[in-house]
Amino acid sequence: MGRVVIAGGTGFLGQNLAKHLTELGWEVVVISRHGSGDHARWQHAVWDGRTVGDWVRNLDGATALVNLAGRTVDCIKTPAHCDEILRSRVESTEVLGRALRSVKTLPRVWVQMSTAHIYGDPPEVVCDEDSAYGWGLAPFVAREWEQAFAHAVSLLPMRQVILRTSFVLGKNGGALRRLGKLVRFGLGGTVAHGRQGISWIHERDMDRLFERAIANELMHGPYIATAPNPVSNAEFMREMRSALRVPIGLPAAAWMLRLTVPLLLRSDPDLALLGRYCVSRRLQEERFEFLYPDVRSALQNLYNS
Ligand SMILES: NC(=O)c1ccc[n+]([C@@H]2O[C@H](COP(=O)([O-])OP(=O)(O)OC[C@H]3O[C@@H](n4cnc5c(N)ncnc54)[C@H](OP(=O)(O)O)[C@@H]3O)[C@@H](O)[C@H]2O)c1
Repeated sequence: MGRVVIAGGTGFLGQNLAKHLTELGWEVVVISRHGSGDHARWQHAVWDGRTVGDWVRNLDGATALVNLAGRTVDCIKTPAHCDEILRSRVESTEVLGRALRSVKTLPRVWVQMSTAHIYGDPPEVVCDEDSAYGWGLAPFVAREWEQAFAHAVSLLPMRQVILRTSFVLGKNGGALRRLGKLVRFGLGGTVAHGRQGISWIHERDMDRLFERAIANELMHGPYIATAPNPVSNAEFMREMRSALRVPIGLPAAAWMLRLTVPLLLRSDPDLALLGRYCVSRRLQEERFEFLYPDVRSALQNLYNS
């Protein structure tokens, strides 16, 4: 087995993936802006996400590059934050493209993170890979991110996979950790009208999908990384309460979230008030088998096993 380089690999998904790949016998190098942490099982290289530097040598002869770098969107959308959300994704992708042009032996595949939010927030339409892109900040950022990727990888003889990822459900990271706390406090009721879609994927299926994108020569182009059964907010919250065995969940009206989420959680209420229903036609056609295809089995596994 060869080497996988994970740019932006110090976060929730990157650490999960590094663990998963090293357990399978891959050599892993994580690239980030900070020190190494304490991981004996994988190596670490430092970059600034903008300029080519010594970190580039890790790409030479690697089997795969996985790019996850990007400032979290779980914040108040001030102009400065919006700028950083965009720039951290576009500039890091661009510099990876420049770096690859200087190595002797290219990785065989570049797996690029993107977001299912590229399809916007349609209230009812079920989106697949062929759906039109949506309107708003997140679809704009996603399009710029994917365009930067297309430009960065153009003319390089390497396989390209884009994972337009939905809400990744993990016990120890991502937005579910915070949501779990709210549910335990009895605040896990339906949000607003509750019909907004939640497209989601269990963290283990996410790792398996990354692994497949790295190893399966037939995977190419954009895929929506999402389980086949998106649910409404009302159903998701009901399954959360059931998995956490909390009988009561106070519902939250839209105005309550608009008032409290920026103040108390320093986040963006639209992340809960809006949503989307996505499925992956391509993963279905390619018969990717999800370990957790429905939200009940996913949440029960995370909280009760
Ligand atoms: N988790 C999800 O449900 C989900 C869903 C869809 C898409 N995604 C996307 O997948 C990627 C990874 O998600 P995650 O949950 O692992 O996020 P995370 O925990 O916030 O990790 C983000 C990573 O990006 C790096 N980063 C942050 N700001 C940066 C900047 N200005 N320049 C360069 N690197 C920067 C961080 O590295 P350092 O700070 O150590 O440099 C970190 O390794 C993100 O781009 C996210 O938008 C995640």
